[in-house]
Amino acid sequence: MSPDFLENLAAAVGQANLLTSHDDRVPFDTDWRGVLDGRSLGVVRPSRVEEVAETVRLCAKNSVTIVPQGGNTGMCGGATPDGSAQQLVVSLTRMRAIRELDITSNCMTVEAGLSLFEAQEAAAGNGLMMPLSIASEGSATIGGAVSTNAGGVNVLRYGNMRDLTLGIEAVLADGTIWSDLKKLHKNNTGYDLKQLFIGGEGTLGIVTAACIKLHHPPSSRLTFLAGIKSVQSALSSLKDIQGRFGKIVESWELFSDVSANLLARNCGYERLPLQATHPWYLLGEIALYDDGDEDIWAERLVEMAGRMQCDDIVLAMSQSQRENLWAIRENISEAERAQGKSIKHDVSVPTGAIPDLIARVLNSFETRFTDCQINIFGHVGDGNLHINAIPREIGVQIGADTAAAISEFVYDAAVALDGSFSAEHGIGSMKTAQMAKYKEPPALELMRQIKAALDPMGIFNPGKVLT
Ligand code: MLT
Ligand code: ZN
Repeated sequence: MSPDFLENLAAAVGQANLLTSHDDRVPFDTDWRGVLDGRSLGVVRPSRVEEVAETVRLCAKNSVTIVPQGGNTGMCGGATPDGSAQQLVVSLTRMRAIRELDITSNCMTVEAGLSLFEAQEAAAGNGLMMPLSIASEGSATIGGAVSTNAGGVNVLRYGNMRDLTLGIEAVLADGTIWSDLKKLHKNNTGYDLKQLFIGGEGTLGIVTAACIKLHHPPSSRLTFLAGIKSVQSALSSLKDIQGRFGKIVESWELFSDVSANLLARNCGYERLPLQATHPWYLLGEIALYDDGDEDIWAERLVEMAGRMQCDDIVLAMSQSQRENLWAIRENISEAERAQGKSIKHDVSVPTGAIPDLIARVLNSFETRFTDCQINIFGHVGDGNLHINAIPREIGVQIGADTAAAISEFVYDAAVALDGSFSAEHGIGSMKTAQMAKYKEPPALELMRQIKAALDPMGIFNPGKVLT
């Protein structure tokens, strides 16, 4: 690195947007879960794509590696620098313009640092909906969501970020700005290169903007929380609704009594708004497109609850009740965090295999790992569960060997059912060992070749995804 590297960087982005002091760097150097403790060379905060390009050029010239970062809400350390004090964090949070909101073509072109919440609000202000919804949407950014192919609670109905991304703009390893912000639903012109950057976790380039599909919002929604006895009943009722009424279910979220206990203990939810406690809870949301459908659907739900042998169900009767029900679900991660360092697993299996996966995990987990509890929750409607191990007592650390054994146990169970060891959180720095163990060797080899072709000097996010 040449002695004037930092000076040139400051000239490119403005002195105030190059942070090098310890206190300024800390929020960018550590992940939100407080699990990783990185140490960067500095943090740059460009405000325009040209500044990102100049930053990349300077880094390439000086062999400085780059860690792109959005809202820093990732689960796998993909946006956290290593401890070498040699990597530069490029934070995109100052690039937050809405370049265009095209209500005729139902899409919006926005910069990477716009938060998901701001994108949702902008779409809603124009009578449309940006459907991607995750618990961290207040801080999580469009660029981060694209780069990790984020999922969340609406994938069942609207797909994940890959399904919602029509085009991207990215800065490549030599500083070229590649703009592919086309608003096209059909574009068969060879390899669909943007797909490499979606879910690429910043290892192939820096996503600086994206064109996102918007949907028409339903006229209203029916949101309910039900206490249920079996996971199978949650799946069969979903299939039943989808079979009879089509794709109207927006969310089908499951959580266990362990989640409910954590919420009670750590987030003040002494009681859920139900009459009793249950082994499992189902939070569902159904989109309604005709005014007046609420009453018909309220009846249908009661009937469905009967078939699920559920006699404890509550419907949201107002927007604030709906928000309260969602807050329960969205606080589960926070409730876990308050318990101490959890060992998170974000797995998926074909939806039909969900009951089998849960049975396999529950049958032997607590006899093998007596100091931990297993907290199962997630997006059951699309086959994605979070199977997280948490310490029984607040603040107790799960040792590294136990953590590794737990992870192997959970991932083996999912993979044995033709599942994936990472459904929506990505790989980051935390799941590279699993990549080596579970990813098919030909796929790994192709990924390495792609990485070498697009980033021959290896300046983008080394140590993430591939090692
Ligand atoms: C969620 O669905 O709330 C998060 O993706 C899961 C987690 O915190 O493990
Ligand atoms: Zn999730």
